[in-house]
Amino acid sequence: MSELSVMAVARGLEAAGISFERNAKLARFTTIGLGGPAEVLARPRSTEEIQTVVELAKAHEVPLRVLGAGSNLLVNDAGVAGVVLHTGALAHVRIDEENGIVDAGAGCHFPSLVKKTAGCGLRGLEGGVGIPGSLGGVVTMNAGAYQFSIGPLVESVEAVSADSGVMTLTRPSIDFRYRKSSFGSDLIVASVRLLLQPDSATAVRADLDAHMHTRKTTQPVGVKSAGCIFKNPEGDSAGRLIDAAGLKGLTVGGARISDVHANFIVHDGATTTAEVAALIDRVRESVATTTQVELETEVMTWN
Ligand code: EPU
Repeated sequence: MSELSVMAVARGLEAAGISFERNAKLARFTTIGLGGPAEVLARPRSTEEIQTVVELAKAHEVPLRVLGAGSNLLVNDAGVAGVVLHTGALAHVRIDEENGIVDAGAGCHFPSLVKKTAGCGLRGLEGGVGIPGSLGGVVTMNAGAYQFSIGPLVESVEAVSADSGVMTLTRPSIDFRYRKSSFGSDLIVASVRLLLQPDSATAVRADLDAHMHTRKTTQPVGVKSAGCIFKNPEGDSAGRLIDAAGLKGLTVGGARISDVHANFIVHDGATTTAEVAALIDRVRESVATTTQVELETEVMTWN
């Protein structure tokens, strides 16, 4: 890929009237607050604009990555080549309270959507209140917490693929697995229809508050982090294993294993993605030595 290809994409975005930025620092867009620049950061406002971005990247053979709320993501300190498609402007929400139908854009901030639907007396999302993602990200990685998982609530998804264009997938044709789904940068979530259960707003709100309380007491909330670093191995918890290996408080430079929950890396601003990555390697090696379990990362890394 050459600088010329990236410039051609930028010209195409300009001609199509799609908002974009050159050399956009991605630290601003990740919850851990780290990461170098994207050559082009495109901000489509509609499904059609997503399609245009995808087609331009494909035509000029430029890599394309999708960025939602940046909550499960580590971006290389040197930044990333090509186009980053940021879904932040796709944030519409339409709620049919009577029938429990919620139509929302991929860029919609998930914790806000949880509060909004609870306020309308719709049950279903309250268990996911602390998941700090975008709706598109939550669906793409089938995010979950406690008994909550997004998959069973998804009625349909409008998605865009470079090869097949815009399509609507209904629930039976979507493959939801542990922290995985049919979606990704090859099939980009544009908008989602959820089916929730009408209930009393007071009851749903009480459950939401209880989930938030549990989360606040068991996870580092209100500090910069990328969420859980490792997937849970079958039948166990990565946090428990890391804790049992005595690694709480372990640091590499300014990156530190949280004292609240050992599957989180926290920092006070003075660190880099390289230090976080080195800490992840240290933890993986140490847990493998002490417990013979090979932990697999849940966070995505963009190099
Ligand atoms: N534990 C420890 N030490 C720790 C952390 C946990 O001993 O530092 C123990 C706990 O005491 C508990 C067990 O490990 O007995 C499980 O802990 P927890 O209930 O906190 O759940 P988890 O398995 O560590 C998973 C998800 C979280 C999700 C919580 C709550 C993964 C990798 N983690 O954590 O998801 O919020 O359950 O539902 O699936 C995420 O995916 O980013 C994430 C944070």
